[in-house]
Amino acid sequence: MTPNVSTERHNWQHWQSSWDRQQEWYMPDREERFRVMIDTVEALTGRSPRVLDLACGTGSIADRLLRRLPDADVTCVDIDPLLLTIARGHFTGDTRVIFAEADLTDPAWTRRLPHASYDAVVTATALHWLDTEPLTRLYGTLAGLLREGGVFLNADHMKDESAPRINAALHTLHTERQRQQREKGSLDWADWWRDAARDPLLSDAASERFALLGDPRQPRAGAPRKDRPTATRWHLETLLAQGFGEARQVWCSASDALVAALR
Ligand SMILES: C[S@@+](CC[C@H](N)C(=O)[O-])C[C@H]1O[C@@H](n2cnc3c(N)ncnc32)[C@H](O)[C@@H]1O
Repeated sequence: MTPNVSTERHNWQHWQSSWDRQQEWYMPDREERFRVMIDTVEALTGRSPRVLDLACGTGSIADRLLRRLPDADVTCVDIDPLLLTIARGHFTGDTRVIFAEADLTDPAWTRRLPHASYDAVVTATALHWLDTEPLTRLYGTLAGLLREGGVFLNADHMKDESAPRINAALHTLHTERQRQQREKGSLDWADWWRDAARDPLLSDAASERFALLGDPRQPRAGAPRKDRPTATRWHLETLLAQGFGEARQVWCSASDALVAALR
C-alpha cells in the first residue's frame, strides 16, 4: 500500500506541536528565549550559519532557526530514539538538516558529527541533565568544535541565586498557573510520554527509548539529585575557564537563563 504522505506529515506535525505545548507548560516563555537565541546567532554569525542543535529533542530550535534563517544548515544531535523519530519525520526531505545519534557524556561523541567545525552551537532545556564534571568537559569540547568567532548558546534552568525571596515568590506564582492549566487539560512530562507510546507510529521507538533511557511514564523515584550546577554565574565562569573568550547572560526569567559564549 502506498504510504499517505500528507497524513504522515500531519502526524509528525501533531507530535511536534504536542511536544512544544508540553514544554511550554513548564516554560511559558520558551518561544521568547528561542527568539533571543536566534537573534544572537544571526548577530554573531550572519544569515547562513552552520549550526549544531545539541540535545535537539523533536527539533524545535532547528525548526525556528530555519524559518528565520532559511540559508542555514543544522546538525541535530540527541540520544533519544523517540524524540529523534519525531524530529526526522518533521524534517523529512529537508536537505538542510542532518541527524546524529549520540550520548553527550561519551567523550568520543563528536566523532558522530558530519562536520569538524560549526559557526554556532545551540541548546535548550537539556544540559541540566548532566552533572558538573561531564558538563564542564562538554563546555571544553564545544569550545574546540566552534570556529574562532563562533557562538554557543545555552538556555536552561539556571538562576541568579542572590535573590531567594524574589525567586521563591515568582516560583509560587508559576506553580499556581501550572496547576490552573492542568485543570484545563495541559499535559505534563509523564502524560506526554503515555500518549506518545500509545501511537502506533511511535510504539517501536517508545520501546527502544524505555529500554535505553528508562520509562518517563513512571513517577520519578525520590533519589536525591546529583551534583548539578544551578547558578548562572557557574555557567559563565566555567565557559570562560573552558576556552571561550566572552560569556554573558542575554536573557533570563525567574528560573531560567540564556547564556551566550563567544569563541
Ligand atoms: C527537555 S528535552 C529538550 C529538547 C529540545 N532542546 C527542546 O528545547 O525542545 C532534553 C533533551 O536532552 C536530551 N539529552 C539528555 N541527555 C542527553 C545525553 N546524554 N546525550 C544526548 N542527548 C541528551 C534528551 O534526549 C532530550 O531530547
